[in-house]
Amino acid sequence: MSKYNIRNTVEEDFLDIAEISSFCPPMINERNSIYHIFTKFFKSTSLVIENKDKKIIGFLVGFISPDNPQEGYLHQLCIVSPWRKKGLAQNLVEEFLNILRKNGCKKVHLIINPGNKKALNFYKKLEFQINNKGKEIIVNGFKTSKNYDGPGEHKLIYTKILD
Ligand SMILES: CC(C)(COP(=O)(O)OP(=O)(O)OC[C@H]1O[C@@H](n2cnc3c(N)ncnc32)[C@H](O)[C@@H]1OP(=O)(O)O)[C@@H](O)C(=O)NCCC(=O)NCCS
Repeated sequence: MSKYNIRNTVEEDFLDIAEISSFCPPMINERNSIYHIFTKFFKSTSLVIENKDKKIIGFLVGFISPDNPQEGYLHQLCIVSPWRKKGLAQNLVEEFLNILRKNGCKKVHLIINPGNKKALNFYKKLEFQINNKGKEIIVNGFKTSKNYDGPGEHKLIYTKILD
């Protein structure tokens, strides 16, 4: 990890994050304004990872639920492809989970598209558990929450209990 630095976002990071997000399919890239909201209003739970030249090579955006402060939500995570498979995403998630624990969170949630096999493998390795809600439908061999994000948008809900 010494070649890399993880830090909380600052507001000015949002355009770099938006640019990286365009290299992260099958993850959907959000509008710039969404990344701006995370880097400005959720900076204590949003992270970037920089290489030795201080260039941002990955990010994680998440938050602690204001309505249920014992629960966190990991919205998006991406590492630019040349830096993948080096454990950097795992480092970002572990840092995020530690921030949640320090703030008294007991659980973290995220939503995955059943077409995103890399992400499914990644979160399985990190011991997230499937925690679907409502009716289920099998997509690409995975049980998903039917229409979770609207008609035809079937998703896997992953939860991890924080100890
Ligand atoms: C998913 C993603 C974040 C993983 O980043 P990464 O830095 O390569 O992941 P890590 O190196 O920390 O991998 C940790 C573990 O996850 C699993 N994993 C990661 N990439 C994998 C792949 N391509 N295929 C299978 N397993 C994979 C492995 O078990 C790996 O551990 P190992 O190397 O000891 O076997 C990255 O592929 C990515 O940015 N994808 C595009 C964006 C995206 O889909 N984000 C997730 C949804 S928001």
